[in-house]
Amino acid sequence: MSRILVCGGAGYIGSHMVKLLLEQGSEVTVFDNLSTGHRAAVGAAELVVGDIRDRAALSGLFQRRSFDAVMHFCASSIVAESVSDPYAYYDNNVSGALSLLDAVRTAGVGRFIFSSTAAVYGVPEQDLIEEHHPTRPINPYGASKLMVERMLADAASAYGLCSVALRYFNAAGADPEGELGESHRPETHLIPNVLQSALGQATQLQVFGTDYDTVDGSCVRDYIHVADLAEAHLKALAFLDKHPGAHHFNLGSGSGHSVLQVIEAARQVTGRPIPAAIRPRRPGDPPVLVASNRRALASLGWQPRRSELREIVASAWRWHCDPRY
Ligand code: UFG
Repeated sequence: MSRILVCGGAGYIGSHMVKLLLEQGSEVTVFDNLSTGHRAAVGAAELVVGDIRDRAALSGLFQRRSFDAVMHFCASSIVAESVSDPYAYYDNNVSGALSLLDAVRTAGVGRFIFSSTAAVYGVPEQDLIEEHHPTRPINPYGASKLMVERMLADAASAYGLCSVALRYFNAAGADPEGELGESHRPETHLIPNVLQSALGQATQLQVFGTDYDTVDGSCVRDYIHVADLAEAHLKALAFLDKHPGAHHFNLGSGSGHSVLQVIEAARQVTGRPIPAAIRPRRPGDPPVLVASNRRALASLGWQPRRSELREIVASAWRWHCDPRY
């Protein structure tokens, strides 16, 4: 049985990871400051409430427990907020990661899985983004994640830390069993906003821009089911058994869907009208972001299984109709 520390395990993606690890028989400790996460989302895992920037708290935790691997999901992740308050993002995402990595080195833990993002690429030069695409983030959020990827590369050379950075595209959907889902306050992401509109819980849905050079003028994104993301982390851990060093992989479905296509899928899944108002473009939105997932498929042996758009929307809809927290 492996012992895994999941930092940020009370959050949206981290909690799906915790559930999968517990199902696989791992012993799981969650370390989370509960700033955006939910106590109820950690299930049967041990929860230690604390902040990764608190070096004393981390050192106490690593003295009490030993771990085979650390998964790091804690981060501030709203792009617009990172532009208006970059220091907060560098503090939480970069200083926080450094504090955690230092504790990991002191404790002698050799394997580390990091939540990175498609935002490290900036404005894509091709519609299908490969990992060797230039990394030129256009906002502090993407820059903060790229800095941590650099730290991991340096840590591999200097300290022998084995790591995988997973560059998520648009995480979406909810636990197929309905126990976990996306619950951010405020909510900025498209699919939860669409479903809240379907439920009459939100003011009219806004579509940010229909004048892009895309299939119908609205932005195209690659939506990847959160449960598929969690499975990729298990594959990444196994990959490190045979491949030391620092690695990075895109995690996406490889297919793009426009904002208007997502809204139409939600109308079909929910059977409800979803009135939408066309608004100007949202600053910082690239027109198209779609992953090439070939490297993850070939090297990790990972395969997205639940990332067909209607399945993503249907699982999110079940959660929004009956949220547990
Ligand atoms: N959108 C709307 N209306 C809304 C919300 C979103 O039209 O109410 C549009 C956005 O303008 C964008 C698309 O829907 O074109 C997707 O927006 P999201 O906010 O759901 O997701 P993003 O693509 O902006 O963000 C994702 C991740 C971030 C990551 C970013 C990289 O959630 O963590 O991709 O660009 F940084």
